[in-house]
Amino acid sequence: MSSVEQAYVIGGGRPLQGTVEVSGSKNAALYAIAAGLLTAETLTLTNVPRIADIDEMAELLRVLGSHVEIEGETVRISTPEITCTAPPAEQVLRLRASFLVMGPLLARTGEAECVPPGGDVIGSRPLDVHFVGFRMLGAEVSRHGANWRVQSAGLRGARIFFDYPSVLGTVNVLFAAVLAEGHTTILNAAPEPEVAMAARLLNAMGACITGEGTPTIEVDGVAALHGAEFEVIPDRLEAGTYLLAGAATGGDVCIANAVPHHMDSLIAKLRDMGMTVHADAASGIRATSNGPLQAVQVQAVPYPGFATDLHPQMAAAMTQAHGLSLVHERVYDNRTLYVNELRKLGARIVTGGDSVIIEGRTQLTGSVVRALDIRAGASVVVAGLAAEGETTVLGIGHLDRGYADLKGQLQALGAQIERR
Ligand code: EPU
Repeated sequence: MSSVEQAYVIGGGRPLQGTVEVSGSKNAALYAIAAGLLTAETLTLTNVPRIADIDEMAELLRVLGSHVEIEGETVRISTPEITCTAPPAEQVLRLRASFLVMGPLLARTGEAECVPPGGDVIGSRPLDVHFVGFRMLGAEVSRHGANWRVQSAGLRGARIFFDYPSVLGTVNVLFAAVLAEGHTTILNAAPEPEVAMAARLLNAMGACITGEGTPTIEVDGVAALHGAEFEVIPDRLEAGTYLLAGAATGGDVCIANAVPHHMDSLIAKLRDMGMTVHADAASGIRATSNGPLQAVQVQAVPYPGFATDLHPQMAAAMTQAHGLSLVHERVYDNRTLYVNELRKLGARIVTGGDSVIIEGRTQLTGSVVRALDIRAGASVVVAGLAAEGETTVLGIGHLDRGYADLKGQLQALGAQIERR
């Protein structure tokens, strides 16, 4: 049976308690693997999560000429020569981060061609920021049938303004700018921790970047990058999912390796909901319930605001908060696929425009629900853990793409969850 047909079966209603460590960040690891295309030498990445998206990205790089070895949580990439600059559509469509091969291919060979990438159906996900950046660096961008083609006889540094602080857009343009001749300034860049990590990785490979983690990134181009060994940061979205599962179940969950300064917005909201949160760099983040949760309002916005990738899990926790809670989604226009699934568990939840309103506290009851994308799947798992009785979550191939050991981690926190 394929993982898409498998299900998680959750016996809900138990408070989650205990301490776990999360895997390396899915998204940051995907960016780091793409960076392997930028050097002929070996890039060794550690703390890479064992998830399906990493295997897909590795496979894509192999098609382009890289040797990629995966050994547990270590990934070694070497790309002595790029042998293909136009990856097959089928592979690019498997994940959104596949489009990150464009920047490195352009920088290293002067050309790249690929279809718009796949990924979760959570809204219109344009690519204009990527193309504005490539054009400003001197590349020609054109459309050929279903493909986007970028070409350049030599990239030159530029002052680039992004209309929107796109995460993948910033990383892609950074990949091209590090090997461009001269100085590049990216204004309105994405400051997400995963983007900042990508910049630190590039610096470890010999790039010259400052301002990472802020909206203005400065790059002095270099002629070539070299190999490096680099550890991927912990996954703040996995950590947030387990902390919210703890909140929804009236539990006490500690994520020992969570990085508190990556998660300020969630910590603030957990405190507003009435949880006690201890957070420090040495011992991670612990969120302890103090009786019933209180309703809160959340705006899902770019970092350091509340992460859109924690919105569906937050909405699940809000079903257990007294009063009217609201999530205003300001990143994606189709993030709310999870809402109907939460209703099947008894949630009182309505959508209107960009907002989701949740009336709590509701006694959820187990049912059969579906993971419709990674975070929608995490949302129904959180709700299933809080629900009385048995919840079956179908479509868990989505969860496999983003969570290395969801069952094991939740079991370590005392949850009753099986994979069937
Ligand atoms: N946008 C533009 N123009 C662009 C690109 C994006 O206006 O050229 C807008 C989109 O319309 C969208 C918003 O920007 O409303 C967010 O898009 P962004 O480009 O920032 O997202 P992404 O880079 O495609 C990454 C993560 C997502 C995460 C977002 C936002 C990966 C592979 N994906 O996507 O992660 O939601 O940043 O933080 O890194 C997930 O892990 O579940 C996930 C979906």
